[in-house]
Amino acid sequence: MTNISLESRLGNQVFPNLMTNASGVMCISGEELDKMLESNAGGIITKSATTNYRPGNPTPRQQLLELGSINSMGIPNEGLDFYLKFVLDHQNNEKPIILSVSGLSVEENKELFTQIQSSNFNGLIELNLSCPNVVGKPQVGYDFPTIKEELDTVFSVCDKQIGVKLPPYFDFFQFDQVAEILNQFPIAYVNTINSIGNGMAVDLKNESAYIKPKGGFGGIGGEFIKPIALSNVRAFRKRLNPEIQIIGTGGIKNGSDVFEHVLCGADIVQIGTELWREGTGVFDRLADELKIIMEEKGYTKLSDFRGKLKEL
Ligand code: DHB
Repeated sequence: MTNISLESRLGNQVFPNLMTNASGVMCISGEELDKMLESNAGGIITKSATTNYRPGNPTPRQQLLELGSINSMGIPNEGLDFYLKFVLDHQNNEKPIILSVSGLSVEENKELFTQIQSSNFNGLIELNLSCPNVVGKPQVGYDFPTIKEELDTVFSVCDKQIGVKLPPYFDFFQFDQVAEILNQFPIAYVNTINSIGNGMAVDLKNESAYIKPKGGFGGIGGEFIKPIALSNVRAFRKRLNPEIQIIGTGGIKNGSDVFEHVLCGADIVQIGTELWREGTGVFDRLADELKIIMEEKGYTKLSDFRGKLKEL
């Protein structure tokens, strides 16, 4: 299998393999980010940054479930200065690092992107429009005029490579309208999907919610959400300008799931729940499993099958 390559390009960055963590998992603290550096992930994304340090929501605020996970973290993060320093310190490593940003208002995002613009960072920046877990703040990704306002604002202050993290959509009308907005901007990529927001998981033994914030409502990830992740990757691949690339995120547990994301159109993929469950060894397992599938099918590189899902 030595002749099988999992290398992938996203914007101006070359990922030695197509897998990174999903933002939120293994990327909040310096120790976690160092573990990601040591792993066989092809890249890293940082926890979505706000201007200042945030402790996040009260605990318990995350729970693994048999078929996935639920969380309501509330954007615990060290603040942009910390993550910007981390990406600058590793700017020319072979593993690209994506800087995720999630200001809590258009004005805050304007300031964050102004700060990044004035730095020497030349990698990918991700504008997160889809956090479901801040009390009193709706997900921007479901408010289409505000998506446009956010993009107008960040592109007016920053001409670096910017991608956008989206929530899951469930209707063709939404895919059409969101793609129509995104296609008006020089976006490097779309990352789809964030967790399915405001799900509920019940602890039967204790007859209680699993997590404390928001009365137990939280973002759902993992196996549960793979069909929605695949539909969103596919729907955006069919609607976005070809220059806009796609990160497929959601429900990846096995090498076959990575293959399916790429077949639907993903350029790279991210692993959240399964990385949390299994640790960074997951990247080695998934790479081995994916290579076995590719070898059986006679493929030597991802572009042999990317986006080539057959419609019946
Ligand atoms: C959090 C969750 C998200 O899904 C996200 O996009 C950003 C932050 C959180 O709860 O920390």
